[in-house]
This record gives sequence, structure tokens and C-alpha cells, in this order.
Amino acid sequence: MPESGEGRILVTGALGQIGTDLVENLREIYGSDKVLASDIREISGHPSVSSGPFTLLDVLDSDKILKLVENENITIIYHLAAILSAKGEEKPELCELINVGGTKNILEAARKNKIRVFVPSSIAVFGPDAPKHAPQLTPLNPSTKYGMTKVDCEILGMIYWQKYGVDVRGIRYPGLISWKSPVSGGTTDYAVDIFHSALSPKKSYNCFLRADTKLPMMYMEDAIRATITLMNQPIESLSSARCGYNISGLSFTAEELSSEITNHIPGFICNYQPDIRQNYADSWPDSVDDEVAKNDWEWKPEFQLETLVKDMIENLTK
Ligand SMILES: NC(=O)c1ccc[n+]([C@@H]2O[C@H](COP(=O)([O-])OP(=O)(O)OC[C@H]3O[C@@H](n4cnc5c(N)ncnc54)[C@H](O)[C@@H]3O)[C@@H](O)[C@H]2O)c1
Repeated sequence: MPESGEGRILVTGALGQIGTDLVENLREIYGSDKVLASDIREISGHPSVSSGPFTLLDVLDSDKILKLVENENITIIYHLAAILSAKGEEKPELCELINVGGTKNILEAARKNKIRVFVPSSIAVFGPDAPKHAPQLTPLNPSTKYGMTKVDCEILGMIYWQKYGVDVRGIRYPGLISWKSPVSGGTTDYAVDIFHSALSPKKSYNCFLRADTKLPMMYMEDAIRATITLMNQPIESLSSARCGYNISGLSFTAEELSSEITNHIPGFICNYQPDIRQNYADSWPDSVDDEVAKNDWEWKPEFQLETLVKDMIENLTK
């Protein structure tokens, strides 16, 4: 059980790829009424989130965040609202405003109300100068605006922890693969879109990355387990990586994914037509070293490429 006591959990950006799965899991564990989902968008078309309380919330509205936190007895926030990499590069000002400005508003509300906060980071914090197997500690010089906002959020989290004692925790998520909600605006979206195309009558996909592009990836089930495990760790077990733990799931190239899908869907064809997103992918590592997460909170992934592809296809064809 969470250390939320009698308090409730607020999830921002709850209608997105991660929120759709996270809200469902949190409600299974803690009860539907304990988890207040929120987003800037209306809830229609999101059956798994509409099973419990929902409110419209723009994370740029600091007054509304404060009122919600106080009136709804919030003691834990999972702050998922953000603009992702591909959309962030198209709209860098908006990306900075929402990712950094929204996080500041959430951290301020947390400071005033002694709230534990989860602020996700990303493998996009690494830049082209980081080793291709990225260690926990290495200079963070991202070349994308999105990556810069993620570094800023890790730093903000550490400032709020060190100066004000706000219990901020975060994970540098790899590209996440899931079947419950559509993806949009990320560079690793190809690894979800490819399944939908493979299962369509056309049985073909135009991949926007090169065949040999290798990136750190993870199945959503593993990512949700990691997130909830981290949030329930005793505070004293966390190290200075607390705002941006590297966690490793699996690493594969676009071609390796496509060939595993072909094992299940004979005749599937993947064509490669790299676009601007190739540049973002090229600036990120192939894999990450997650020794610190393993030591601090015994992180261990469960899904490998074969099990992930099988599970995705089974669920998408149900
Ligand atoms: N999905 C991934 O592969 C991945 C990988 C690394 C890191 N992350 C991080 O995880 C977090 C969640 O990612 P996701 O994939 O669920 O993103 P998503 O784009 O699927 O969802 C984000 C949600 O935030 C909402 N939103 C946007 N602006 C808002 C605002 N001003 N106020 C309130 N809500 C707003 C959107 O409506 C959307 O529902 C982000 O911080 C992202 O950077 C995701």
C-alpha cells in the first residue's frame, strides 16, 4: 500500500500513453476513489480512465492545482502532463512552458502541502557525447529541446528535495511500448505504430527511423511496475539518482522488432523512410546502465523482445 495514509493520489496528463495504464493500475491497488485522474483534454474515448474520478486540469494553472490539492486531500502526485520529443521540437516554446513551467507549479504545490511527487524523466536527457551504453552519472548535454526540459526537471526536482525536503522521485523512461492507448508526438512511437500497421489489412509499415536504429525500450507493464515500486520505496533507500533513475528494459533495432513481428505475422513488410526524428534518435544512447536502480530498489525488468511482441499481438487482436 502507498504511504498516502488517508490521502488521495492525483495523476496529471492522465489521458496520455502512460496515464491510461497507470491510472488503471493505481485504482486496482488503492481503490477507484483514491485516484483522481486529470488532463487538459476531455475524457471522452478513454474508458479505462473514466472508471473513476476525473477533472479537467491545465498544469499551467497554478491556482487550480493548489485548490485541487487542498480540497481533494492529495498526498501523492504522478505528474505525467508534458509535450513529447517530436512535438516538442516542432513547438520548443510550448515544450519548455508545459514541461518546465508545469513541473514548477506541481513542485510548488507539493512544497506547500508536503506531497510526494513522481516527475518522469527520459533517455532524451542524454546527448551525442554520452557513452552509447549510458551510465547513471555522465554529463547531460541533450541536443533536443525536449531533452533540455527533462534535464531542467531533474535539476528542479533535486533543488526542491535538497532545499525544501520535497520527496521528488523520477525515472528516465526508455521508449515505452503499449497497446491500450494511441501514441503521438514521441520519437519511439514507431515501436507502437508498427504493430497497428502489421495487424491492418495492408500488413506493411513505413518506419520513420533507419533499420539499424537501436534504442532503449520497455514494455508498459514493466514501466508501470517500476514507477509504483519506486514511489513506494522507503525514502532512505533512495540515492542522489532519485529524480532520474536509469532503468533498462530491452534494446533492439527497428529491423529486429520488425523481424520478430514477421515471426507472428508472415508477409508483414517494413519499409524504412527516415525523417527528422532520425536525428533525435541518433543523439540518444543504444542502452542504459541501471545498476543504481538495481541497488537502490531492486529493479528488474520482466519482458524481453519475444514476450513483448507476443503480448502486444495477443492484446491488439482481442
Ligand atoms: N511514452 C514514452 O515513451 C515516454 C518516454 C520517456 C519519457 N516519457 C515521459 O512520461 C510522461 C508521460 O508521457 P506520455 O507518453 O504519457 O505522454 P502523452 O503525450 O501520451 O500524454 C501527455 C498528456 O499530457 C496532457 N497535457 C498536455 N499539456 C497539458 C497541460 N498543459 N496540462 C495538463 N495536461 C496536459 C495531454 O493531453 C496528454 O494526455 C512525460 O513526462 C514524458 O516526457 C514518456
